[in-house]
Amino acid sequence: MNNNKIKVAFFDAKEYDIASFNKANTENEFEFRFFETRLNAETVRLAEGFDVVCVFVNDDVNKEVIDQLAAYGIRLLALRCAGYNNVDIEYAYKKIHVVRVPAYSPYAVAEHAIALLLTSIRRIHKSYIRTRDFNFSLSGLTGFDLHGKTIGVVGTGKIGKVFINICRGFGMHVIAYDKFPDEDSGIEYVELEEIWKRSDIISFHCPLTNETRHMVNRDTIRKMKPGVVIINTSRGALIDAESLLDGIKERKIGAACLDVYEEESDYFFNDRSGHIMDDEVLARLISMPNVIVTSHQAFLTAEALSNIAATTLSNIHELLETGRCANELCYRCPDFSTCEKTHIKKCF
Ligand code: NAI
Repeated sequence: MNNNKIKVAFFDAKEYDIASFNKANTENEFEFRFFETRLNAETVRLAEGFDVVCVFVNDDVNKEVIDQLAAYGIRLLALRCAGYNNVDIEYAYKKIHVVRVPAYSPYAVAEHAIALLLTSIRRIHKSYIRTRDFNFSLSGLTGFDLHGKTIGVVGTGKIGKVFINICRGFGMHVIAYDKFPDEDSGIEYVELEEIWKRSDIISFHCPLTNETRHMVNRDTIRKMKPGVVIINTSRGALIDAESLLDGIKERKIGAACLDVYEEESDYFFNDRSGHIMDDEVLARLISMPNVIVTSHQAFLTAEALSNIAATTLSNIHELLETGRCANELCYRCPDFSTCEKTHIKKCF
């Protein structure tokens, strides 16, 4: 390896990561090594000798991994994603810097949520298969208009706001809940109870936290309208999947559009077509005619990949050059995006 270059080890690297990062390395400042395997306690030894480790949503950066990375003298963990629930941020404090890509294309995720919704309620997934088999029957394909329906949006950050604008374009009535509402946004905020009670469709765009884990559960499903459509492009564990499945079996839930699943790390992003599916809940959900599952695909647009690569490399450059980075995560800041120290004095 050329020692003048910043050596970055990528874990869980896919062909689209390799292409976008190689393209973004315009100055040839970085030397990349792409590992297909995920980062965890068993694979962390691969990181030895690198300056930076770059991970994605399903790499498991727990205490043991952090200790080992620190022991190898690795100063920086660069997340090539926005969510960071897979990293023990608190434990990382004073051991390794953690940076992320807070925004890369809210449009990618919001548009995917809409694609899932339209596919589901207009039965496109069914008609696509029928017409390929020259079956032109319309039987069982009746959908419903989005116009005039009430959509409840949970989380009105970057993605939630784009999603709301698209919904308004369809003539939907938007109500929203956010723990930190943006009062100047013109969004009609209501309490969560109202979201459950009034929404024909509910879409989740909030992070996974202790507070939001399993916010869709037996109890909250009971409060929802019969026939409610649930969209989750955020994090799987926002929904208790067994309760969701029961809600579908009981015909309470009209449809579910899922880009994420609580136990996705064992399956998503990989071709498992030749394997027996061990996860009974996922298998049953996928078997339902009114459930659409995509494999954590919402982020996957050319624009998003290009922005992810550019921001990740600029985060690495900035932190290694200056010792600070606006996109650094630090558990001590109540809201990472509004760090009081703005990382100028550095939290550590
Ligand atoms: P953001 O940080 O801009 O917005 C999140 C919003 O959720 C904020 O307004 C925040 O106040 C709100 N929030 C925080 N705690 C809450 C709570 N307890 N209840 C309700 N709202 C709460 O994040 P952004 O970029 O809009 O992303 C949202 C989520 O989308 C991410 O957390 C991530 O999990 C997910 N995501 C999924 C992707 C995919 O490919 N499926 C790609 C990118 C993000």
